Amino acid sequence: MSPAEQRVEALLNSMTWDEKLAQLQIVFRPDPAELERWVRGGVGAIFWPRSAAAVNAQQRVAVEQTRLGIPLLVGLDVIHGQHTIAPTPLAMAASFDPDVVERTARLAAAEAASGGVNWTFSPMIDVGRDPRWGRVVEGFGEDPHLTAVMGAAMIRGYQGDDLGDPGSIAATAKHFVGYGHAEGGRDYNTADMSEHRLRNVYLEPFRAATAAGVASVMAAFNTIGGKPMHANRHLLTGVLKDEWGLRGVIVGDADGVGNLVPHGVATDLLDAVRQSVGAGLDIEMGGSLTDGSGRALLTPEQLPIDRVDDAVRRVLTLKAGLGLFDRPYVPEDEEITGPAEEARAQVRAAAARSTVLLKNDGTLPVTPAGRILLTGPYATSTDHLGAWTQTFAAAAGSIAGELASRYPDVRFTIEPGTGFYDDDPADLAAVTVAAPGHDLVLVFAGEPSYLSGEAASRSDLRLPGRQEELIRAVAATGVPFAVVLINGRPLVTSGWIDLAPAVLEAWHLGTEAPAAIVDVLTGAAEPAGRLPMSFPRSTGQVPVYYAHENTGRPATSRGTMRPETVDIGLAGPGNLKEKYTSKYLDLDLGPQFEFGHGGGYTTFRHASARLSADRISRAALENGRQVELSVDVTNTGARGGDEVIQVYVRDLVSSVAQPVRRLVAFARRHIGAGQTSTVSFKLGTDQLAFWYAGEHPARFVVEPGMFAVYIGSSLRAVHELSLEVT
Ligand code: NOJ
Repeated sequence: MSPAEQRVEALLNSMTWDEKLAQLQIVFRPDPAELERWVRGGVGAIFWPRSAAAVNAQQRVAVEQTRLGIPLLVGLDVIHGQHTIAPTPLAMAASFDPDVVERTARLAAAEAASGGVNWTFSPMIDVGRDPRWGRVVEGFGEDPHLTAVMGAAMIRGYQGDDLGDPGSIAATAKHFVGYGHAEGGRDYNTADMSEHRLRNVYLEPFRAATAAGVASVMAAFNTIGGKPMHANRHLLTGVLKDEWGLRGVIVGDADGVGNLVPHGVATDLLDAVRQSVGAGLDIEMGGSLTDGSGRALLTPEQLPIDRVDDAVRRVLTLKAGLGLFDRPYVPEDEEITGPAEEARAQVRAAAARSTVLLKNDGTLPVTPAGRILLTGPYATSTDHLGAWTQTFAAAAGSIAGELASRYPDVRFTIEPGTGFYDDDPADLAAVTVAAPGHDLVLVFAGEPSYLSGEAASRSDLRLPGRQEELIRAVAATGVPFAVVLINGRPLVTSGWIDLAPAVLEAWHLGTEAPAAIVDVLTGAAEPAGRLPMSFPRSTGQVPVYYAHENTGRPATSRGTMRPETVDIGLAGPGNLKEKYTSKYLDLDLGPQFEFGHGGGYTTFRHASARLSADRISRAALENGRQVELSVDVTNTGARGGDEVIQVYVRDLVSSVAQPVRRLVAFARRHIGAGQTSTVSFKLGTDQLAFWYAGEHPARFVVEPGMFAVYIGSSLRAVHELSLEVT
């Protein structure tokens, strides 16, 4: 036993039943006196009381005025920044750059830790395939691989090389599991699915997070197969702890234990606690195991004692890992209370890297000169921080303000046109009248941040209010224009997209959003992100995602599209003629913009895609052998730029239906004008296997046969190679 383990065991052996149960809860009590009463009662964890001094005051009570002196876990939803706010996770997923995610998480950890936070409830790694669900903004989009890579990067950023470093905090992978599969996209809703789907899509990012050493995992609010996750022993204990070996803690979501009563699986709160702890939950969020003075509400007869000991051991081990027993206090004079200049520069660069150029006829980048009309609610709005805005986050300015201060010689006119929900047609008319006197119109449209995030599902994914009308009105004036979208989820753009010469997707980009957006619009930075989620053609098309399984009767756009796109449901009107295929009669095939889509200010050519071998045996794969895939990427444009090289595979014939494409690797590379860069990837078991759930336990297998391997700058522009597994 290590000295740390000995310390934990010694402590555990000296604890009373009351003291044990008190450790297994996190309480949110904003009133300092009430909070102190809980801390005096031995509660294990509290929500951040808003300053280093307030944390130290509570830690002092825990360490110096309780019998055992166990320091507190101090939790907070640090989601994409503490004071200096980075782009939302969905936006950062669009960067296709895990470094962006890791570095901004490290920054967030340093700021939060300086104030005494030692535990964040992030990253959210729920795969999100239904944009009606407002929480897609907090995750990394529709793809399990992209989500797994970004989630692991965020965990590395928060936890650093050593959880005990002063700039590290414990991460929480959430919400385990299936929360993104809520029926109808309504938050908290039932999420039923097969083990095949669960294993291959929703569990994969959590498996990666566990492998990355995540310190905690949060249970989800939903049921799976009728079993609420807070009472789901099979998944919490069977899969997460036993199969994958999670060493950290499983924390409940806010009142998620109590919610077992309305779910209809527990008779009362105590029954709910009994079921949750028995299922493998280690920390309850709310405070239902003891009263405020630390008296247990359940007897040892009502809970499995070994399970309670295991939970307490996990909590104490986490505290030891964070170094809290040796350093429970934070230096108050080192608390970071606002963004430093380097922090601003860092999130500004991250924000620019997260933008996606949806379309462009050459209107972008713009040269700020002459007369420019700024319109749309986001021209002057400062709502750029995203749905998880905390009151202490550093505010963003407005795009109009940024443009005016950066280009004092340019004549900017502001004509809002419409608010997010205004219905005064006079404002639209004012834009129509003003536009002709200008050289360019920039339309800043989008969704206010309160329309995404928790409990913010939408049934209509179009721009709210009269914003579509505004874009159509601007288009009708004939003045050159570009649209910038600022939003928390994929939107339906069909009412105006064909009229717009250029459209930039700018999400909610955080504290430095206006500066970054202006950087990108003017070409000081390049929009080279790619969509982490498909943009549907209509809300009725949802869910629409690229990695779907083929049906026995796939709809194709036969004859109208290049051969490589015919079978994957990408696009095309030609599909409507064939009757007995899987499609809508009133909608073109595929999403408006698919996963992985995005342009840039230069162009690239991919050539000489090659594999180091066109055949490999299963035995070799099992021994860790890999095949190398390479491509030569040339920047054929006149300026340097970033390319996102994407690798997809398709298992052509296997025992269960496979996705038509599956992202298995990607890389974002900067390539100078006229330069060529060779980009290589390794293909091995992790890239070729899938979870076979036809037997128990499920197996991660590579089945022999042919695999198609696709490499390119998107789902469409691909080189196809063949790889045989023998
Ligand atoms: C509820 C949310 O579902 C969860 O993500 C969050 O961490 C907790 N509330 C705590 O704020």
